[in-house]
Amino acid sequence: MDDLSNRQHSLFTSTISGDVDGEPTILGQNLTKTATTQSFAWIVGSLWLGRPLKSKKTEAVIDQALRLLVDHGPYVSGAVNTMISARAGKDLVSSLVTGLLTIGPRFGGAVNGAAKIWFESVTNQLSPADVVESFAKRKEYIQGIGHKKYRIAAPDPRVPVLLNLTGKIPHPHLDFALAVEKITTGKKPNLILNVDGALAAILLDLLVHEEKLERDEIQALIDAEFFNAIFVLSRSVGFIGHYLDQKRLGEGLFRLPDDQVMTKG
Ligand code: ACO
Ligand code: LMR
Repeated sequence: MDDLSNRQHSLFTSTISGDVDGEPTILGQNLTKTATTQSFAWIVGSLWLGRPLKSKKTEAVIDQALRLLVDHGPYVSGAVNTMISARAGKDLVSSLVTGLLTIGPRFGGAVNGAAKIWFESVTNQLSPADVVESFAKRKEYIQGIGHKKYRIAAPDPRVPVLLNLTGKIPHPHLDFALAVEKITTGKKPNLILNVDGALAAILLDLLVHEEKLERDEIQALIDAEFFNAIFVLSRSVGFIGHYLDQKRLGEGLFRLPDDQVMTKG
């Protein structure tokens, strides 16, 4: 590890990138060499963890998640916001940011909240029933559970794709999430383990078993909202696609028809 003792004399410190003899580096390795020998998913996971990924399984899940989450139709709130901004004549970054600002506790940004619940519950050996009950008592939604389109009879096709990548690794967080789903779907059919909740559980099991992270390291990732980053990165691809599509279509400013809004007078 480089000596960071002189950091008090520096304006910034970076442990993930730099420059050696005029050549940019990431994680201490030449950038161009890394970019021509490693996958995008490996670079994403390694840069975000601040050190090279240890496991091909982790790389494979990040790669699959990045591809699975690019878009989910022009119906979802974030895409619609980007489309509206594009049709209002806004530029690429402004339209992208409009979509990104929609990502939060209900849409796309529940991965981190679900990771917090699964991690704390498994760490403290809580029962799924007690966790579901505690959320119900507080009238709080369990992050990672529920969907507006999918339900028991019409499951999210993306979830099994991710689950199948866990292979033979121990998966206590996924087991807990599935046990919660079993209870919640007994209450309402749409209270399934959604793709945010599934990704959170799988990432936790990989970070523990494959990446050998300690509990305090995982807690720090939860505190920094690491688990939402994959959805943000991936869905940016879809939002930019919707922006460019709307620019091509040139349909002009969007306005809701009066009869589509309930008003009180
Ligand atoms: N945990 C506990 N109860 C829930 C949850 C939940 N996550 N979601 C809905 N419910 C309950 C509500 O309490 C309500 O119960 P009630 O009828 O007794 O009052 C009932 O289900 C219907 O609630 P709605 O808000 O109308 O359900 P809706 O289907 O609109 O909600 C949503 C879907 C927004 C995804 C919701 O389930 C939720 O906020 N989940 C948590 C956040 C989350 O995981 N979002 C990620 C979605 S997937 C993605 O964005 C990629
Ligand atoms: C998504 O990936 O955008 C969805 O799961 C959310 C939705 O409402 O379809």
